[in-house]
Parts: sequence; structure tokens; C-alpha cells
Amino acid sequence: MCGIMAYIGKKQAYPILLNGLKKLEYRGYDSSGVAIMNGSLSLLKKEGKVQALETFAETRKTEGNIGIGHTRWATHGIPSDINAHPHQSQSERLTIVHNGIIENHEPLKEMLIKHGYKFQSSTDTEVLVQLIEWYQKRYNLTTIVAFSRALQDVEGSFAVVLFDVYDPTKLFAARRQSPMVLGIGEKECMISSDAMPLAPYVDQVVYVEDDVIIETDDTGEYKFFDLNLTQIDQPISDIKNASIAYDMGEFESFMLKEVHEQTEAAHRLITSGIDINIGKNIDRIIITACGTSWHSGLIAEYMIEKFARINVEVEYASEFRYRDPVLSSRDLVLGISQSGETADTIAALQMAKNAGCKTMAIVNTANSTIARMVDQVSLLNAGPEIGVASTKAFTNQLVTFCLLIINLLEDSNIDLAYDLKSELQKLPSLISRTLKANENIVDIAAYISQYKSAIFLGRGTMYPVALEGALKLKEISYIHAEGYPAGEMKHGPIALVDNKMPIIGICNEDKHLSKTISNIQEMKARNGIIILLKSEGIHIPKELADFVIETPRCHEFIAPIIQNIPLQLLAYHTATTLELDVDKPRNLAKSVTVE
Ligand code: F6R
Repeated sequence: MCGIMAYIGKKQAYPILLNGLKKLEYRGYDSSGVAIMNGSLSLLKKEGKVQALETFAETRKTEGNIGIGHTRWATHGIPSDINAHPHQSQSERLTIVHNGIIENHEPLKEMLIKHGYKFQSSTDTEVLVQLIEWYQKRYNLTTIVAFSRALQDVEGSFAVVLFDVYDPTKLFAARRQSPMVLGIGEKECMISSDAMPLAPYVDQVVYVEDDVIIETDDTGEYKFFDLNLTQIDQPISDIKNASIAYDMGEFESFMLKEVHEQTEAAHRLITSGIDINIGKNIDRIIITACGTSWHSGLIAEYMIEKFARINVEVEYASEFRYRDPVLSSRDLVLGISQSGETADTIAALQMAKNAGCKTMAIVNTANSTIARMVDQVSLLNAGPEIGVASTKAFTNQLVTFCLLIINLLEDSNIDLAYDLKSELQKLPSLISRTLKANENIVDIAAYISQYKSAIFLGRGTMYPVALEGALKLKEISYIHAEGYPAGEMKHGPIALVDNKMPIIGICNEDKHLSKTISNIQEMKARNGIIILLKSEGIHIPKELADFVIETPRCHEFIAPIIQNIPLQLLAYHTATTLELDVDKPRNLAKSVTVE
């Protein structure tokens, strides 16, 4: 969701910006733009893909060694050339790119209009750049002072980079609840929304903290300030060799690569283990997350309650943060997030902290906002996930929960802990077998791609797996899909079933098996097209399924991980049959940094 790339140093900025913006494409966006400084300012903006900007820029001036670039995911105002960033102040002295939302932009805009300011775009970003200029002019302030004053006025989230043509050897930047990374190079600096675009150029980065202002210049000097402009320090991190992980390798998409990385990612995490501790005085665990991460939380609820007998509740972060829940210091609030930057999950955890709860997070991105804000953090160690659809992060979220359950049982039921541990050890080879089998998924996907809707059904942990399967299908193939607990179909959704409705029934060898099979039979009796996902060894009536997908037999402790994998592939092949961009599905963003 919105991406920033800025460069200051002695090299040509434009190729670095363009390269960075392309690397940020995975975050989701609908327009892009750059501003390059070289005596005069060259401002280029285009609706659509970065490719459209690149073509547009071919006949324009792009020379210069300072530049700021942006990919915009529209929030205020439609995707258009005018609303694309960078935005300029009225006198064109200041140019800005911004990620986040200025929540109080309306009163600020009214105030500025009263003072004679006119606006070109419908964006909240233009309000911010005008406000900085207003401070500059009204109080005759330096850029950095005006910048800090304006930032103190704004409510909401921001990662901004600012350039002043009157101060043409510097870039200023700041962040609050929106990711920002400073790359430190040899006599040069770069600023980006994440470390990935910086990895080919620098070995060291700073994951900038909230309410920190950066001042950099074209000799590579950089300084950090708080909002009162007191100089402060920020920790430097090493990202040497990180760029290798951002390569698609032999695969045709990042998603496919990441699906195939699951064997190794799970193995890595099982081998390294986790280093978090639920603690003694906890009455319940409240898991909060969004989307796919929420689905892993739902599976964890079933598993932790069954195996470790601790009370678990699962909350959509976007609801939890606003619904005034009853919380106490005996609650552990556990956020799950691949990116570690999801705005709702951050706010939900903040609310829990304010209420005195203990907080914990399971994240893939070290140094992300969520990783830094909680009492304890467990890293997924899945490697960077670039495809918008979350795959290997989901798998490692579930592996983390398996490890957590084993740790909990080591204190109370060592025999069960031992048994589950040996089942978990089998997981990497079972993932590998699941990925290798099932060539028929390509044909089944081609079949599904003709239909407009699909229903995914399961019971027990296979119910959240059904939810996740449906989410994967809809987000990358744009086919409407719903996940349901199989037992709920009779209470309404069965009315949808006819000979144009693919039903993906998911079952496993557990106590729910016979019930799930009966529910699927009910769908078959209404002419539904049955695609049965089952583990080897489960016998089903011959006429029940139109298609069967088989997975290796496994213990119910790891079954959700195994059963989910064919569903990832089903969604993938359906989307590729429809010739869709699986890595960058329309309207979606990898890192959802606004609520
Ligand atoms: C779906 C997907 C999203 C994310 C959700 C939360 O494939 O990726 O539903 O799971 O946006 O993101 P994180 O996990 O980064 O907090």
C-alpha cells in the first residue's frame, strides 16, 4: 500500500528510483510518480503501472542526483495523474511524497483555504505539503522547523519525504505508524517503505522509529531528530546479502516460488524453534489479526484449546480495536502479521497495551512496527514474502503455533509434547510430498475457472482452512468464493447450490470426518460439483466426488498446514488459467498500512 523510494547522493537518482518503485509494486498501487532535482525540478506522474511512468519519462528530463518517488494506492481521491504523488506546495517550493492518512486533513484544508491556498488534487497529502509551506511563510521558519511544526498538527499516519528547492542539497523525511527505512550508502542515502529496494545498494539500514525526523544531504550525511528537533540516535541494522532473497529464480511468479519454499521455511523454523513464553498468570489468549493471519489465529484457537487447554479468543483487529472489549492484565493479546505493519493490528495491540494486557506478536518482518511494540515477539523466519497472497507466512504462523503448543505441554503433559513433536518433525517432508503430488490440480483449476462462485467447506480446523482456501481463490482469481463450516450449510447457504456451484469439501482423518462426508453428500444431492480434498486412506462413496485431491496421511496436529497447500495451488492455477497477475492482484496491497 503506497511505496516510497528516495535517493540523495552523487549518482543519477532516476534509475535508482525506478528500480525501487518496481520492487515496491508488490505492495499494491494504482499510480506512480517521481520528482528529480537538477537546477530545476522535473515532476513526472502517471496513473497506472510504473511501466506507464517509465514510458512517459522517456521523452522528459530525468537527470539529477536527488529524487523522490512514489507508488500510490488511492485513499483520498481517485487514481489519476493529478492525485498521483509527488505533490507540491502552492509556490512549488516544496515537493512531497506520503504514505498513510492525514485524518484531520479537512479542518487543516479549510484553514489553508481561508489563508488563500488553492488545491490541485483531492489528496490529504497536498494538505500536508501546503501546511508546511504555510508555517514556513507565516513564521519565516527553516524547512525542518516548519516540517516539525506541521507534523505536530497532523493526526493519523505518515511516512513522508520532503524536498525544498531553496535548500537543494537536502532531503527531509519523517514517519508515524507507516513504515520507513533509511539506507546508508557510500556518500549517499536512500529512503524507502521497506528494506527490499535498498538491498542492492546498501549494507546498512535504519528502521526509523515513530515521530522521528531525518535530515540527509548529498554528501551522505544524515541526522535524526524528535519532533521538537532535539537530535537523537537510531539503531543501525545490517542487511548484507539480503537482495538474494528477493529474486524469483526459476519460478514464473513470486507466489509459486513462495508456495514451493514452504518445505524449507517450515524446516528452518522447526529446527530453530521459538523463544516466546506465555507466562504463568494468563487466563486467556486473545489473538488479533487480519485476513490470512486471522485464519491462522482461528486454527490456533482450535489447536491451543484442544491440546493445551488454554482459553483462546480470536478477533478481527479492525473490530477489536473499536469494540470496547473487557480486558485485564491476565489477558495475553497476541497479534499475528506477516508484514508487521498492518494498521488495524497495530492499533489493536496498542489498545491492549493501554489496557494493561501482556502483548505478544508473531511476525515475519523483523524490525517492523509490530515486532517493536510488543512485550515478546516470535519471527516466522519464512524469508521475504513478495506475492500479495500470503502463503509461506501462513504455513509458518501455524508451525509457530505447533511449537508454542509443544512448549506449553512440556510443563504439563510431557508424553503428549513428545508425540506432537515427532509429528511436527514429519511436516517438511509431508509438505514436499504434497507439493509434488496432485498434477490433477491444474485440470481442476481449469474447470473451476469457468464458474462464477465456489464454496469451501470443512469442520473443525478444516473450517478455517476452508476460509483460507476461499480467500486465496477470490483474491487472485476474482471468482467469488465463500468458506463455511460444513454444518452451517443447511442454515441458508445451501440455497445457492446447483449444478453451477463448485463445492470444495475438505476432510481429514479426525472426529469430524463422517459428519463432513454427510454434509458433502447433501451438496451432491443438490447437484453441486464436488471437489473433495482428503487425505490418503479415507474411503468415500464412489459417486460422491466429481474430482478428488489427495494429500499424504498425517496427524491432525499438522493437517491444517498440509490440507491448505493444495488450496494454494488450486487458487494459483485458477488465476493463471484466467491469465491474471497472481503476484499483484487488482485493488490489493501487500502491506495494509491504512485502516
Ligand atoms: C491474503 C493476505 C491478507 C493478509 C492481511 C494481513 O492472502 O495476504 O489477507 O493476511 O492483509 O496482513 P499481515 O499478515 O501482513 O498483517
